[in-house]
Amino acid sequence: MDVRMRINRWTSGRRALLYGDALASGLVQPHFVVDGEGVDEPIASLPGIHRQSVDVLRQRIAEDVAMGLVGHMLFPVHAEHDKDPEGHLGLRNDGPMIRALRALREDHGDTVVLMADVCMCTVTDHGHCGHVHEGTILNDRTVTSLAEMAVIAAEAGADYVGASDMMDGRVHAIRVALEDAGHHGTGLLSYAVKFASAFYGPFRDAAGSSPRKGDRRSHQMDPRAPVKEAVMEARLDEEEGADVLMVKPALAYLDVVAAVQAATHRPIAVYNVSGEYAMVHAQHPDQDGRRAVVEEIMHGFRRAGADVIVTYHAREIFTEGWLGART
Ligand code: PBG
Repeated sequence: MDVRMRINRWTSGRRALLYGDALASGLVQPHFVVDGEGVDEPIASLPGIHRQSVDVLRQRIAEDVAMGLVGHMLFPVHAEHDKDPEGHLGLRNDGPMIRALRALREDHGDTVVLMADVCMCTVTDHGHCGHVHEGTILNDRTVTSLAEMAVIAAEAGADYVGASDMMDGRVHAIRVALEDAGHHGTGLLSYAVKFASAFYGPFRDAAGSSPRKGDRRSHQMDPRAPVKEAVMEARLDEEEGADVLMVKPALAYLDVVAAVQAATHRPIAVYNVSGEYAMVHAQHPDQDGRRAVVEEIMHGFRRAGADVIVTYHAREIFTEGWLGART
């Protein structure tokens, strides 16, 4: 079965995230998970965001959940010397993200929504989002590996696997692999419309995922591409069985968000990416000034048509009770 409409209704957490009344109910906080214990390492380019080991992450997320922040997106961060060209780390079921998924599922049951990143850029030594042969990213071989990675994340308890790679045909391949492995209730958050953007800098720093040479322009969309190409990407992923369609980055692409919302039938997510977050913090290092800017940006996302907003601002919005969060 390619499309399972029940996936977005499967748990109370998913219903709250996708269909909750308040703007704040659709927020998702990204996290960077590392091996070790007691690790809580600030990321210089992303003020307020840390790389955390599973034990520390568990504590932080318990506080988030207590405030009502139910959406969490996990990215693994690995030591350079453990990586190889084929990304074998991504196929292990004891990596930091996979262990975090198991622990958080155990801690919170169905009340949280856990999204697991599925991409090869954090596990390959060359930093590309797939298998590379003579300077070219091999689409179909990469898709096979992504599907394996997705099944491992599903097994560990992910609500949604986040396919952030932009290979052709991966949504269908992942859906089929999940079905074959019996994960009928695991959803697919597709980075359906992802641009080759200059706004990802701080993330690549945080995740150690920069390509050693070259760039991502042979698979991510050209920022100059017309809206109709973005709509086609989103429609294809919808047909292939994506449960949520994401547009990324967010701020420079709100026209795309509106068009994709109008042309498709699945919930729409935006990724308010690292460079966008860093700009806000550079302008307003103090919380007082930041509030109005953050609120204005979130309203912009909602007005453009976002149902779900992945943003590094999520935790602060909840701790400070902005946008009516926690009322
Ligand atoms: C890669 C991935 C990227 C981000 C999320 N997943 C970066 C990239 O494509 O290089 C960026 C997120 C951000 O900038 O906050 N799979």
